[in-house]
Amino acid sequence: MTNKLWAGRFSERTDKLVEEFTASIGFDARLLEYDIAGSIAHVRMLAKQGIISGDDGVTIMGALGVIKRKIERGGVELGVEYEDIHMLIEKMLVEEVGEMGEKMHTARSRNDQIALDIRLFLRDKTKEIIRLLFELSRAMVLQAHKNIDVIMPGYTHLQRAQPVLFAHHLLAYYEMFKRDRERLEDCLKRINVMPLGSAALAGTSFPIDMDYVAELLDFPKIVANSMDGVSDRDFIIEFLSAAALIMMHLSRLAEEMILWSTYEFGFIELSDAYTTGSSIMPQKKNSDVAELTRGKCGRVYGSLIALLTTMKGLPLTYNRDLQEDKEPLFDAVDTLTATINVNCGLMANIKVNAQRMRETAQIGHLTATDMADYLVRKGMTFRRAHSVTGSAVKYAIQQGKEIAELTLEEMKKFSEMLDVDIFNYISLERSVTIRTSPGGTAPVRVKEALAKAAVELNLDLLLPADCGRPTGDSPA
Ligand code: ARG
Repeated sequence: MTNKLWAGRFSERTDKLVEEFTASIGFDARLLEYDIAGSIAHVRMLAKQGIISGDDGVTIMGALGVIKRKIERGGVELGVEYEDIHMLIEKMLVEEVGEMGEKMHTARSRNDQIALDIRLFLRDKTKEIIRLLFELSRAMVLQAHKNIDVIMPGYTHLQRAQPVLFAHHLLAYYEMFKRDRERLEDCLKRINVMPLGSAALAGTSFPIDMDYVAELLDFPKIVANSMDGVSDRDFIIEFLSAAALIMMHLSRLAEEMILWSTYEFGFIELSDAYTTGSSIMPQKKNSDVAELTRGKCGRVYGSLIALLTTMKGLPLTYNRDLQEDKEPLFDAVDTLTATINVNCGLMANIKVNAQRMRETAQIGHLTATDMADYLVRKGMTFRRAHSVTGSAVKYAIQQGKEIAELTLEEMKKFSEMLDVDIFNYISLERSVTIRTSPGGTAPVRVKEALAKAAVELNLDLLLPADCGRPTGDSPA
């Protein structure tokens, strides 16, 4: 079986090194089920159109099923002499059914075959990744729901800024992953186009029915141009861009998990099942899953850049360079799948230290903005109120106090407008509760967002009106 299917015009054997260098079978064997499905659809179409006989069609389709099972069972050696999965299958077909098998490749080429296979593969994987993102979002929304009354410090520049609900923080990630799902749904539109029948580059003179093949393989449409059909890889690049964004989001989340689980922060504890130990330091519990999540981001960016670079400057139509699309894609798909999957468990099993988050939010004058807003409500301009409050903060720091710990007398030194109600005004609960602007951290807004997310995720969340509402005055 070493005679190449294309050997007719050659007089010399292919050099062994060349076989090794050009073979893709080592990785494209992964497309077996899609290649077989594509071939079966193609053969059915050929028979329907009278390009081959119905009997031949039935025999070939039966043999393709046998070949699939043979390769799946692992008994077939995937030698480089077969070059790729398409040629291995065709060789096996001829072995199985004789000369009749040589009819299968009528009116198609490997160029359109591989384009079809990747589209079928990526369609499945994209749907799977969307499903995993759903799972991750569910885990996140459940954590947000479970901890709806937890107040934490919100940060800018990684400096404590203003108190926020922990649920609000998690729901920010919900929004990111929701956009990621939408992006993948959008990618699917361009993945889901059927190229088989482009026949190398120019189309074919045989009376093929591409719409029928599309129907058999559940594609809503076929490629509009045969040259584009064999040379387009935009749909992979789009997927890889979406994948890069997902990994970036996961990496940001991972970074927070790592920070939050340090002694210095102590906001959460990662479960034992999602951490690892040290070979030398007995006390260690390391956030390796989160660190690898952050670390694996780079290889997915790498895949995107690799394919963009491969495509740059490629003349139409098919060039063997295009074979280099598969390994980066497979690696990105596998990385993404494994990373989202493990993060579902990581998220579902974090233990939230509400007390610690709250105590941290109480240190660092996080409600100084509220003090300024208080003065504005009493008639001061915001810029002036900012400056007055800034002076109060400076004074408090000198006294080793929080602004909330200043006496009324001390307060009055900065503005006569500051009255006894300022103390309630700058409490954590009040600060959070009054931020009712759209998308704000007020419990009423966060509960609305939770309820909306629950509907989108098909989650049955119990959200009574007073569920976990932080105590304190309602907004003025
Ligand atoms: N292994 C090839 C690839 O992955 C399949 C198409 C080969 N076509 C060709 N004319 N050499 O791109």
